Amino acid sequence: MNTKILSSGMYVPNQVVTNFDLEKIMETNDEWIQQRSGIKERRWVEPGIDTTLSMATVASKQALDRAHLNVDEIDMIIFGALVTDYVFPGTGVLLQESLGFSKTVPALDIRNQCSGFIYALSVADAWIRSGMYKKILIVGSEIHSTSIDKTTRGRDISVLFGDGAGAMIVEACADEKSKILSTVLHSEGKGSSVLCLKKPSSNDSPRIQISGDFDLELYPQMEGRLVFKNAVTRMSEAILEVCSNTNTSPDDIDFVIAHQANLRINQMVLDNLKIPHSKTHNTLQKYGNTTMATIPITFDEAVLEGKIQRGDLVALVAFGAGFTWGATLLRY
Ligand code: ACO
Repeated sequence: MNTKILSSGMYVPNQVVTNFDLEKIMETNDEWIQQRSGIKERRWVEPGIDTTLSMATVASKQALDRAHLNVDEIDMIIFGALVTDYVFPGTGVLLQESLGFSKTVPALDIRNQCSGFIYALSVADAWIRSGMYKKILIVGSEIHSTSIDKTTRGRDISVLFGDGAGAMIVEACADEKSKILSTVLHSEGKGSSVLCLKKPSSNDSPRIQISGDFDLELYPQMEGRLVFKNAVTRMSEAILEVCSNTNTSPDDIDFVIAHQANLRINQMVLDNLKIPHSKTHNTLQKYGNTTMATIPITFDEAVLEGKIQRGDLVALVAFGAGFTWGATLLRY
C-alpha cells in the first residue's frame, strides 16, 4: 500500500491584524515587516471565540467533508501544536472527542514545531505502508497570539506569527499514480536555544512564580539571523535529499509547498535549487507563521486555486525550532 493525500482543510480566526495595527502597539512599521518577512497581516484569535481545539475541529471537518468521509472512517489522529489547550493531555484526544468519533481511535500528539507537519506525515505514511491504519487525519492548530510579547521588546518575534489551523487526510492506496515517494527528517539540538520558549519548565518549582517580576522566559526568544540562515540551507538540502532518494532532480518538481516563516527564506530556497518562483504558493502574507499549520493551509489554498493538480510532483519542506527540518516528495 502507498499513502495518498485525500483532502485538506483549514481555518483561520476572523480577526485580521495588519502591520499597521501592530504599529499602534509597538515600535515597528509596515515597511520593515514586509521588507524583512513578506508578511502584511496575520490572524489573531479573539478570547472566548476560538481555541486551538475549535480551530482544529473546523479544519478537520472541512477535510472530512471534502473527502466525503464520515468521521468514523478515520483510523487515527496525529495532532501537533507548540502551545496547546492543556499542558496535558495533548489536544489530539480533545479532537477525538470534539469530532464525535464513536470509535476509540488513537490520538498521537507530536511536538516538532514548524517542521511538525513533515514529521506527522512521515509517521502517517509509515503506519499506512505497514498496514496498521488506512485513513489518518493530521492536524496542526496553533494560537501564538496569546503567548507572544506584543511590546517593542518582543517585536522581532511577535510580528512574524499568526493563529490558524490546517488539516489533511491521507489514505492507503494501491494506486501507483498518487503516493508519497520519499520523506527525510533531521534534527540538530545544538540549535535548541536559538529559537525557544523556555517556560513554564518542569525544572522550576513551582512551575510559574506568582509573585515578583514577570519572567521574560515565559515569552519565546529567537536569534532571527541564525534561524534564517539555517532555514535556507537546511530546506534546500532536504529537497535535494528527497530528489536524490527518488532519482529525480529539482527540475522535475512541479510545485513546492514550503513552511511559511519568511518570504525571503522561501525565495532563497527556490533560487538555490533553480526552481522558478511560479512553482510555489505562499500564504504568509495573509496569515504569518502558523508553525505546524502552514503546510496544510498553504497546500489547501494551492489545491483550491488549481495550482496543484492530481499527478503533479510536489515537494513539501519545512524548518523550525529544535532545530528540526524535513521534506517530502509526493505524486499528488
Ligand atoms: N520592527 C522594526 N524593527 C525591528 C523589528 C520590528 N518588528 N524587529 C527587530 N527590529 C530591529 C532590531 O531591533 C534591529 O535594530 P538595530 O539594528 O538597531 O539593533 C534590526 O531591526 C534588526 O535587523 P536585522 O537583524 O537586520 O533584521 P533581519 O533582516 O535579520 O530580519 C528577522 C529579522 C525578520 C527576524 C529575520 O532574521 C528572520 O525572519 N529570521 C527567521 C526567523 C523565523 O522565521 N522564525 C520563525 C520560526 S523558525 C521558522 O519557521 C523557519
